[in-house]
Amino acid sequence: MKLIQIAALVAPAQAALRFGCSTLSIQRLDPLVEPGKLPSAHVHQIVGGNAFNATMDKDPSDVASCTTCTFSEDFSNYWTAAMFFKHENGSYKRVPIMQNTALPNGINGGMTVYYTQQDFNTNGNQKITAFPKGFRMTVGSPTTNTVEDAKKHPGLRFVCLQDKATRFPESPDFPPKACKGGIMTVHHFPSCWDGKNVDSPNHQDHMYNTAKEAFSPAGACPASHPVRMAQVAYETLWDTTQFNNMWPKDGSNPFFLSYNDNKGYGTHADYLFGWKGDSLQKAMDSKCMFQACENGKPLQSQSVAAMNKCAVKSSVNENLDGWLKALPGMSM
Ligand SMILES: *[C@@H]1O[C@H](CO)[C@@H](O)[C@H](O)[C@H]1NC(C)=O
Ligand SMILES: *[C@@H]1O[C@H](CO)[C@@H](O)[C@H](O)[C@H]1NC(C)=O
Repeated sequence: MKLIQIAALVAPAQAALRFGCSTLSIQRLDPLVEPGKLPSAHVHQIVGGNAFNATMDKDPSDVASCTTCTFSEDFSNYWTAAMFFKHENGSYKRVPIMQNTALPNGINGGMTVYYTQQDFNTNGNQKITAFPKGFRMTVGSPTTNTVEDAKKHPGLRFVCLQDKATRFPESPDFPPKACKGGIMTVHHFPSCWDGKNVDSPNHQDHMYNTAKEAFSPAGACPASHPVRMAQVAYETLWDTTQFNNMWPKDGSNPFFLSYNDNKGYGTHADYLFGWKGDSLQKAMDSKCMFQACENGKPLQSQSVAAMNKCAVKSSVNENLDGWLKALPGMSM
């Protein structure tokens, strides 16, 4: 009996979460980088709990009543810049988001979110610590403006989709020509924590990245950031296909991230932790993989219909649909 218990304690946990979240809101709000600012500088697409607002001064799991994610105890918010198409005539249109493959059908846009341990199969025998209440971080920066600097972020990539299952090759910038199946953006966050700060002035210094490429084993955490957390990653699938027959005659890339970037070097993402109680730690300590973590084993989950029903109204009165004269917030 005793031996079995000890074996269970040292056995590597192999939990990895991969789940869909439908779109919660698309608006100019950024409670992490520009708290309280209405509207924020550029348009974001946001998924997760409905406590999302301009200030986010409370623990989301205390104030949210629903989430757009599969796991109903996850009131975190996850967001990235939105994508727009620029017509040769100067007008812009927002690029719709489509659901990923390998998820239940019917998810409304949104993202696929991952919390992996080391790669898809193992945590390398390390304890994976869940994020503490109040934790937040960003990865990437809209001010990155050279391909050399973009390449230094191994986790921030674009994939030209042939179909929804295409994963390679990855590039640090926008694909140079029309993609038959759309464009996927991928955002991997660092996973080594300083063990003290739930945030830092630039929202990045409390974390450290040791991964050299996407979904591959990360190196050991450094002494400055000794605590191994889950590796959080987002995949967003942009349905660019309706624009493929409008590619500009001069060959330039017509797709723009919402802060006026048609290179993609400044691609970035935001994370604001909001899992209820110790639910994320429970999942990280278990051995479940992906969908097998649902239905109380060990995480509570919900139907696609319930995910799609959760939404927040825009705090900003501005039209983001149809053909627009300028990128919202970017008018000269
Ligand atoms: C955001 O929500 C929190 C919690 O409900 C609330 O305390 C805060 O006042 C809200 N902020 C805004 C700008 O509405
Ligand atoms: C640009 O082209 C689109 C697509 O044909 C059209 O709907 C839009 O009104 C045009 N904008 C201008 C300013 O002509």
